[in-house]
Amino acid sequence: MGRSTLPTAGAGDKSGTMRALVFYESMFGNTHRMAEAIAEGLSAAIPTSVLPVGSADHDALAAADLLVAGGPTHVHGMSREATRQEAVRQAGVEESDLTLEPAASRDGIREWMESADNLPRLFAAFDTRADAFKWLTGSAAGQIAKVLRRRGSKQVVPPGTFLAPDNDADGTEVDRAREWGRALGEAALAG
Ligand SMILES: Cc1cc2nc3c(=O)[nH]c(=O)nc-3n(C[C@H](O)[C@H](O)[C@H](O)COP(=O)(O)O)c2cc1C
Repeated sequence: MGRSTLPTAGAGDKSGTMRALVFYESMFGNTHRMAEAIAEGLSAAIPTSVLPVGSADHDALAAADLLVAGGPTHVHGMSREATRQEAVRQAGVEESDLTLEPAASRDGIREWMESADNLPRLFAAFDTRADAFKWLTGSAAGQIAKVLRRRGSKQVVPPGTFLAPDNDADGTEVDRAREWGRALGEAALAG
């Protein structure tokens, strides 16, 4: 997965020198799709890059003031190596229509956050999860937020959680992700 940078539209001079990085983990592409939608909304206010975990782009991280970190919900929280291996196994089943992301990596957002140096001063967290009540599914985003707070970064908006878009024929969740990104951009500039 290459790096994409979305130009800022309509932000006037409000965005100043602030830059955002949407950094995502994704096995089957769901979180990737939401990351792109969030970046679309966010880039209305702040120049925004989108990168998968595993791309190890230290320059993009060093340049970012706002980190938007997301991943899939696995076993009610952030993925682990065993759950990522399970995802790889599921994609390999003959009758499966799941396709692994090119950047599906051995390291997930959990491992990356623990090892990253110089995290941006601001963050927001998001996840994707199954289409059921949150108390049943769990949500990775709250855990992501907890780690980033512990590491000294300041949360801009409450975590965003989005349903896997495979059941999202009308695009409602993608729209919601774009809107969450837009609101995040405004909050980051206002704060
Ligand atoms: C091993 C594994 C465990 C999962 N556990 C949960 C879970 O506990 N709760 C949930 O809502 N979804 C769970 N899911 C579904 C994923 O969170 C959901 O499909 C997500 O959108 C996948 O994102 P991705 O395509 O970016 O990897 C699980 C998926 C896998 C592969």
